[in-house]
Amino acid sequence: MEKLIIKGGTRLSGEVVISGAKNAAIAILPATLLIDGVCTIENLPNISDVQIQCKILEELGAKIDWITSNSARIDTTNILSYKAPLDMTSKFRASYYFIGSLLGRCHNAETGLPGGCKLGARPIDQHIKGFEALGATVDVANGKIVASANKLTGSSIYMDTVSVGATINVMLSAVLAEGTTTIDNAAKEPHIVDVANFLNTMGADIRGAGTDIIKVNGVKSLKGGATYSVVPDQIEAGTFMLAAIASKGDITIKNCISEHLDCLTAKILEMGGNVEESGDEIRVWCDKRPQKTNIKTAPYPGFPTDLQAQMGVVLSIAEGTSIISENIWESRFQYTYELNKMGANITAQGKTAFFEGVESLSGAPVCATDLRAGAALIIAGIIANGTTELYNLEHIDRGYENIEMKFRNLGANIVRIRE
Ligand code: UD1
Repeated sequence: MEKLIIKGGTRLSGEVVISGAKNAAIAILPATLLIDGVCTIENLPNISDVQIQCKILEELGAKIDWITSNSARIDTTNILSYKAPLDMTSKFRASYYFIGSLLGRCHNAETGLPGGCKLGARPIDQHIKGFEALGATVDVANGKIVASANKLTGSSIYMDTVSVGATINVMLSAVLAEGTTTIDNAAKEPHIVDVANFLNTMGADIRGAGTDIIKVNGVKSLKGGATYSVVPDQIEAGTFMLAAIASKGDITIKNCISEHLDCLTAKILEMGGNVEESGDEIRVWCDKRPQKTNIKTAPYPGFPTDLQAQMGVVLSIAEGTSIISENIWESRFQYTYELNKMGANITAQGKTAFFEGVESLSGAPVCATDLRAGAALIIAGIIANGTTELYNLEHIDRGYENIEMKFRNLGANIVRIRE
């Protein structure tokens, strides 16, 4: 078992380079199955979710040559099976992208029921509705999802809820379908645009990604042959922006797209922090205790649920009482119980949490309850007085590349220990 030992009381300062976006990479990798050929993907984050997606691809017959630890040449010419290994696909959420991509490629798909962070009920009814609209039959039973279609035909789908995963998955299944598919009430997150850009670079015809309505004009095949670089990770950049505010520090975040973080920038300014944007860099600094604010999570361009816990750390030490309303996931306040062990004063009731700001946190043994909660607790450990021991690191390793090294380079006293 591994744990992080964080000696707190540090003001973070310096520069950090953001990796490729986890949520784009783990959709683009399954999307390579739609290509009858070779492509090169750069700026892949070196995280365990990417490694699992690559292993699943290899099991299906893809050949992957790593050029560097962040770029790979992927050959999907010979796909041998439409059955993605159940043990691997059951472990994490984004394995659902293998249903859309295998359906598109083989007209058949079989995966385990997706696992992932325990954030409450995580239905996939909108994915299934989209596949069925294109002509597939989908069965969910005995921990498996089995989909098949004689033929996929373009259709119009209205998403009952704005869903990142369903939007991408329907896009994947529609790329090689006959005719045009329209996805209405589509999600607009930067990684939706990135997956569409990847597929278009390989020969697809997808229009409107980043708006409410996406049109996918089916094409006969994707030839590949191109190189694509994954968009920078908006959530990782936001995590370091909030680490700067929480630690009353001064961090320059490099290789990021500031427009993707407009809602966070607005909140940081409201809390009394400073933000300076220049090209692909954002500098964030703060020299006083942050002020209270209220947050409501919402689909992009609203405040991302994936930055809710990191913001929760800032609000736990802000001046005054703040409220967070979590509108995407029903169980995303588990980290508040861990933060309370560190001296925070947070009351979570259903979708709402009340943060009575305290002057400071103090170190304690805590557990990463999910991926983003893990990042939040690292920030909490860095600003707390004393030593924090953080457990359940496998959650963090799923989505943050070299996280302790990046924080160490900013001055944090943090080491990983194997017990
Ligand atoms: C993705 C992200 C996750 C992020 C979330 C919201 C990946 C791999 N994960 O998750 O980090 O927290 O977006 O930004 O990209 N829903 C349904 N039916 C469905 C699908 C979703 O009711 O078929 C609901 C969910 O319960 C949730 C909401 O829609 O309340 C949003 O979920 P969705 O956008 O699909 O999240 P994921 O794609 O799983």
